[in-house]
Amino acid sequence: MKIQAYWIRSFFLLLAIPLLTISCVSEPAYPQESAANKAYPTALISHIDNWNKKQAAARRPATYIEIDQLAFYDNIHLVKTQLLSGSTKLMVVIKSDAYGHGLEMLGRIAELAGADYFGITENSSVKTLRDMGLNVPVVRLRLAGNDELLSVHSNPDEYGYVEEMVGNLQMAQLLSQLGEEQNRSIKVHLNLNTGGMARNGFDMTVPTIKEDVLSLLELKHIQIAGIMTHFPNADAEDLGATQTSLENFRQQANWIIENGSLNRADVLLHVANTSATLRLPEAHLDMVRLGSLVLGEKLEEEAPGAIQNLMSVYSTVGQINYYPEGSSVGYGSNVILQRDSHLANIPIGKVNGIPRDLMEVLIGGKRYPTVGSMSMNTMMIDITDDWEDIDSGDRVVIFGKQGDDEIRVDEHWLSTISDVHTFMGQLNSKARYAKPLPN
Ligand SMILES: Cc1ncc(COP(=O)(O)O)c(C=O)c1O
Repeated sequence: MKIQAYWIRSFFLLLAIPLLTISCVSEPAYPQESAANKAYPTALISHIDNWNKKQAAARRPATYIEIDQLAFYDNIHLVKTQLLSGSTKLMVVIKSDAYGHGLEMLGRIAELAGADYFGITENSSVKTLRDMGLNVPVVRLRLAGNDELLSVHSNPDEYGYVEEMVGNLQMAQLLSQLGEEQNRSIKVHLNLNTGGMARNGFDMTVPTIKEDVLSLLELKHIQIAGIMTHFPNADAEDLGATQTSLENFRQQANWIIENGSLNRADVLLHVANTSATLRLPEAHLDMVRLGSLVLGEKLEEEAPGAIQNLMSVYSTVGQINYYPEGSSVGYGSNVILQRDSHLANIPIGKVNGIPRDLMEVLIGGKRYPTVGSMSMNTMMIDITDDWEDIDSGDRVVIFGKQGDDEIRVDEHWLSTISDVHTFMGQLNSKARYAKPLPN
């Protein structure tokens, strides 16, 4: 009897081990709960409220973009509390006008949500952040040209103290010279080409470049605030190459720290963008650099469930016309109407950065197909089944929610979602509004 009970217990124990293992692998390391169930800081609410008040006076054009500032706060909060350990810093990458969402729209929100750093590329962005009075340290994520370096680092009153990514000795020497002229040290982040982008970094496998790094370590007026790389294949199915690069990066960074007699605690090691952060937790190191994830553009399996999309694109029904069966539609006449039809024209087109192969839009919470090739400023929608219920002036959702439905960029263009948002956001920057707070 005792032996039988032992075998039964062992059987269930053995069964439990693989089940436990499967659940550990498939479940993300953070609970899939909404970050929205929490109190928001008063400063955040009044900031968003002020945006809405400021924009309320202006009549919105027929085609416009709405940005959900609260969702941005939620996303950053979620990443900080559920994805990153307390010791990993978060750089919020807001280059390219915050990927088209608007630097001014989102800068203060990121600060309030606890961004440790901002990642930008242009001097103009540094100026904007400074004019906004934000105090988050800024790192440039591109090797700046000499003119750009001269402008920024000779004028700290105007630009503040930007931390520069450095990828060659000449740049480091110029920065050290600029630092000396002002009797200070300029903070730099050494970019290593370990990831294999061949874009910005020192190739530490080349002996002469290693010597350059040794010379750089002698410079008196730069301070090595970080060592970094960028992985080109962190979203590939096989992460083997990225894992190898990570290991090489660790060795190369250690070599620099030892040879420069640097204090490890003073040097931030950072390598991970959105894909690396989600898929390779060991790559988090001292800081991660996130754009797509906090902007709600990477909603793949590995991302926390409550990450939200920030950008909605709206237009308006212009006029509704009748065309008989057999009519051709649009340039190239490549669509022939198969029935008598009512088509609504919508004042949105290629000029707004809308992808040419947009298939559907929402009107009154229902999907309607686009017809014919999109023009520069106009798109046609087939509303034949409901034309009597639709009027000029009705809201059209190109991307976003209406009723119970939502059209998302990633329905059709998953791999380019950041590009689509960046183009649309920048092309329509004069028609970009903050989403009002929920009541
Ligand atoms: C160096 C660097 N780090 C991080 C990022 C952020 O990437 P992601 O949008 O995938 O988070 C970028 C953006 O292109 C980058 O150039």
